[in-house]
Amino acid sequence: MLNRRNLLAVSTLGASAALADLKPAIAKDDVNPTHTWWKEAVVYEIYPRSFKDSNGDGIGDLGGIIDKLPYIRDLGIDTIWLAPIFKSPNRDNGYDINDYRAIMPEFGTMADFDTLMSKASKLGIRIILDLVVNHTSDQHPWFQQSRLSRDNPYRDYYIWRKPGHGGAPNNWPSVFGGSAWTFDQATDSGYLHLFSPQQPDLNWDNPAVRDEIFSIMRFWLDKGVSGFRMDAITLISKDPSLPNLTPEQLHAPEYVYAAGPKLHAYLREMNDRVLSHYDAMTVGEAYGIRADEVSLFTDRSRRELDMVFAFDIVHIDRDGWRKIAWPLSKLKKIYAEAGQPKSQDSWNTVFLDNHDQPRAVSRFGNDSAQFREVSAKAISTLLLTQCGTPFLFQGEELGMTNFPFRTLRDFKDAQVASQWKAKVDAGLVAPDVFLENLKSLGRDNARSPMQWDRTKNAGFTTAASPWFPVNPNYTDVNAQSSVSDLNSLYHYIGRLIALRKKLPALIHGSYRDLDPDHVSVFCYARQWNNSTIVVMINMCDRGITYEPPVPQLGSLVTSSNEQPNVGKGITWLQPWEARIYAA
Ligand code: GLC
Ligand code: CA
Repeated sequence: MLNRRNLLAVSTLGASAALADLKPAIAKDDVNPTHTWWKEAVVYEIYPRSFKDSNGDGIGDLGGIIDKLPYIRDLGIDTIWLAPIFKSPNRDNGYDINDYRAIMPEFGTMADFDTLMSKASKLGIRIILDLVVNHTSDQHPWFQQSRLSRDNPYRDYYIWRKPGHGGAPNNWPSVFGGSAWTFDQATDSGYLHLFSPQQPDLNWDNPAVRDEIFSIMRFWLDKGVSGFRMDAITLISKDPSLPNLTPEQLHAPEYVYAAGPKLHAYLREMNDRVLSHYDAMTVGEAYGIRADEVSLFTDRSRRELDMVFAFDIVHIDRDGWRKIAWPLSKLKKIYAEAGQPKSQDSWNTVFLDNHDQPRAVSRFGNDSAQFREVSAKAISTLLLTQCGTPFLFQGEELGMTNFPFRTLRDFKDAQVASQWKAKVDAGLVAPDVFLENLKSLGRDNARSPMQWDRTKNAGFTTAASPWFPVNPNYTDVNAQSSVSDLNSLYHYIGRLIALRKKLPALIHGSYRDLDPDHVSVFCYARQWNNSTIVVMINMCDRGITYEPPVPQLGSLVTSSNEQPNVGKGITWLQPWEARIYAA
């Protein structure tokens, strides 16, 4: 048994800090008040275009999601985040919306959406939507009006400026590469787009724009959705003087874009006028926000958002377009910071994967035939035992891997073309160097279709060719074989989700890294009231003898290894072995 005395003994020996000293991550009275379902939730992101095609046109759709609800429920998922399902010209796969109240025809109808909502609710699954309101599509009627004339009533829905000397009104780059300004001849002005030219930024300083957005939010909340993932939400407030960036700022412009003067005021207004009237959860994409600023969004007393996706984990292996090596200490530091938040009254997310990232197992694990499954179990252990609400991405439960891209033509992501233009065509980076980095970092890695079974096109579609090719490894990596094998990653994740629901320390417990300096083993504790969980993960391809930093670990409740060698004291960890002990 891991008891207080043992732990204090450890600490007086100086071997490691005492678990008993851990402060609760949240106040005691915060457990189970109303409005905390999202703290206990496990969220599953669906990228509808690539999930399941139900009508044979090669594109995933709402009917496909409805068919697969039982599969999602069986994994233990209680909340689904749908990437954008609204009408869109699809320059950025739905992140460019031209009608916020209509379903993308390729995905189905509003009746299909209502069916999805009611079937999900019967299975105890909530739905949250992607709110993309930093920008619209250039095909949105507001923008179509706005560009017509300088005195059009919709002119100020967007950000227009007269061209400056030599072209653009200022030197801001788009996140996707190239200038953030596009010149529009009709009115001899440029409009701002922090993403592609087909995604003009809305002018949040215009109260009419905020009214429109809040009314769109109410429309979906009134339909019963349980909240929003908020796309690029940190970028909504622009410094009205639109100052040029310094050379240093140009290296990472998102930190300037996310420092808009009214950002927090607008989020508070959104909360007061809309969110506070519903039992809705919000999770903001915190692009350009540093770890120590997260609680400015999530501290409950500030009444802004419930959670954000912080970007440290996204940046861990990259410097701009370039992939970089990272030591385990970097990952440990990210979780240590997240586990000791500045504000005791805020909440975290944990994610390794989403539709903008390479596949988690290829990135944090090892996707070779030998280690794919075990390393995916190791990193899933992290995902489901760290502090915060876990977010899985479709296919992560199967250990889907990066796509075997060969040439530039294999990429469909609009971001790729503009980055290529800005880096390679501009002569800044050699084509083969850029391509190699793109293969491992590209967003399209996440977007190949779900691998359902061993039949043609992995059972994703009956069409001759899906909108994006299926990863050829689908004969080995697919849902059908995972579901039928009780030792699969899929079932391991299911067991971890069940364990989370059973052990409140995994949800509400405080966090301490027990062995921050170890180069390959990640060993940490979660503690809540009298219960302590110790997680031990060997994050490398080699087996290792390991002396646990606490003498008593409690009893083993789950292991990724079928026959863990569990004795007292020094132990042997297989490559990528993960264990969870509870006391
Ligand atoms: C977010 C989305 C990404 C999209 C971008 C512009 O980063 O996750 O997919 O391209 O915003 O909407
Ligand atoms: Ca379809």
